Amino acid sequence: MNEYNITIVGGTGIVGREFLKLLEARNTPVGRLRLLATARSAGKTVEFRGQTITIEETTPESFTADDHIVFLSASGSASKEYGPIARDKGCFVIDDSSAFRMDPEVPLVIPEVNPEDLDWHRGIVSQPNCTTTPMVMALAPIHRENPLRRIVVSTYQAVAGSGAAAVDGLEAETRAALEGRHEPSGTQKREIAFNAVPQIDVFDEGGYTKEELKMANEARKILHAPDIGISATCVRIPTFFGHSMSVWAEFAEAVDPAEARKQMATVPGVRVMDDPAAEEYPTPMDAAGNDDVLVGRVRTDASTPGGLTFWCVTDSIRKGAATNVLQVIEEADRRGVIQRKV
Ligand SMILES: NC(=O)c1ccc[n+]([C@@H]2O[C@H](COP(=O)([O-])OP(=O)(O)OC[C@H]3O[C@@H](n4cnc5c(N)ncnc54)[C@H](OP(=O)(O)O)[C@@H]3O)[C@@H](O)[C@H]2O)c1
Repeated sequence: MNEYNITIVGGTGIVGREFLKLLEARNTPVGRLRLLATARSAGKTVEFRGQTITIEETTPESFTADDHIVFLSASGSASKEYGPIARDKGCFVIDDSSAFRMDPEVPLVIPEVNPEDLDWHRGIVSQPNCTTTPMVMALAPIHRENPLRRIVVSTYQAVAGSGAAAVDGLEAETRAALEGRHEPSGTQKREIAFNAVPQIDVFDEGGYTKEELKMANEARKILHAPDIGISATCVRIPTFFGHSMSVWAEFAEAVDPAEARKQMATVPGVRVMDDPAAEEYPTPMDAAGNDDVLVGRVRTDASTPGGLTFWCVTDSIRKGAATNVLQVIEEADRRGVIQRKV
């Protein structure tokens, strides 16, 4: 891979820090590395490959043409403000917020599913929501041969999906609750310790939350299949790391579960852990800290011809965010679509 100067906006966040670990672990060639955040973090330092990097405050003047790759990992509003500025300076921008995911001029890419969409980027590439990626990776190989008609999915999402403060919040709430106190941390819509909260993000007028609509709209965009009917229910649970989901999918033709397992396992990064006789299936603890999308409980849906049901788990910070971003960079480099002005 070519060497690039990389700038991370959100370098102190839970995803930004994981991304740094991955750069180290994968030995990615990096020229100059800059870490940006808010004024709160400016001046703090981070060690990277024996170098001390000082966090800088992000401002509209932060970006220059020699920031070859800018990874926006802060918030939707920060992405909307800084994404176009960095793009106009000639940087290759990857955004992991929802700011540009449904923009028709911005590809939304899972390298194992739709790498070819990188070829038409216009400076900004978007990264799917952390629940969309695993669901689409598991379904895509079957869908290519036997089109999806409908998906009904319920998620069980870890607090890490809402950032570093939410991880601390669950820990504090749990300690307080074990001592008999209810002390909501305010990091979720309700107290989360020992609870389950069926609201992630805000509701729209139809009664779905934005998180649920993201899963539906993004899956259709990545698969280039605007007609798939998708209904999601997204639930936050008191797990630190690892998002789970129960997926029900209806295909044009009946799907043999054994065949489905084989097809899913052809996707790099999808690992099937599915042996009911041995009570084998994945849990969030199996996913935490690794890059795989884990699939189990694959079975024929008893209620619908063409129906297939399965359970799927992945670490939202890894394949749901940092890993996918790094793979997008690697794939874009292979395709020669990262233009360097300087
Ligand atoms: N967590 C996940 O599993 C996950 C998965 C997929 C996508 N994402 C997306 O990734 C992004 C980062 O999420 P996270 O979970 O890493 O959050 P986080 O742990 O709360 O970190 C947020 C980071 O963004 C910085 N930041 C916030 N507002 C900023 C602004 N206006 N300008 C510059 N920097 C700003 C923060 O800086 P300070 O330290 O100075 O506050 C911090 O470095 C979000 O867009 C999120 O939707 C997260």
